[in-house]
Amino acid sequence: MSIRFDQAAGTLSPAGPTLTRRMSDLEGLFRDQNSWRTAVADGDPIVYSVVSSPVPEIDRELPQSITTIHPGTTGGEFWMTKGHQHPNHQGEIYLGMSGNGGLLMFDGKDTRWVDMAPGTIGYIPPGWAHRSVNVGSEPYSFLAVYPGGAGHDYSWVLENGLGQRVWRQDDGLAFVDYFAEV
Ligand code: PA5
Ligand code: NI
Repeated sequence: MSIRFDQAAGTLSPAGPTLTRRMSDLEGLFRDQNSWRTAVADGDPIVYSVVSSPVPEIDRELPQSITTIHPGTTGGEFWMTKGHQHPNHQGEIYLGMSGNGGLLMFDGKDTRWVDMAPGTIGYIPPGWAHRSVNVGSEPYSFLAVYPGGAGHDYSWVLENGLGQRVWRQDDGLAFVDYFAEV
């Protein structure tokens, strides 16, 4: 089959399901919980959306999706995806499409950060939890390609974190330990 990939628009055609994550869906993930609560009460903005291809998420298939993270910060922490671990530890590929972002990875011990710009391939090896972060002032979009049976374990990140957090600092960014007090 052929799937049309529009780099500028961040769309797939034909498309499968689309997922929209609002601020209220990111409970327990931003360090500054008061700022998170305020943002939820103050319009509960869309933080990111995920458009899937029509390829099913089942074993042996190879689905794709495009994630677009809006620009913003909550309590100084850049807007980001929830982050997850693949329960059966399968690898994954991301391809930067537009905007400036980063790929944060954590294996329970070590942390890695990959700057993601249009044309960058970020590789997530088996067993590394991962989160994407928009560190720019425009929407950040990337294509993900992953084994259909990979699954998404979100509780792993709630329990173990992602090693580090990414904060806006002056015109750039700063990393802090995930569980450090502010
Ligand atoms: O499979 C992936 O890693 C991505 O497609 C993510 O699911 C997507 O970026 C959204 O992130 P999360 O699943 O952590 O909410
Ligand atoms: Ni993944």
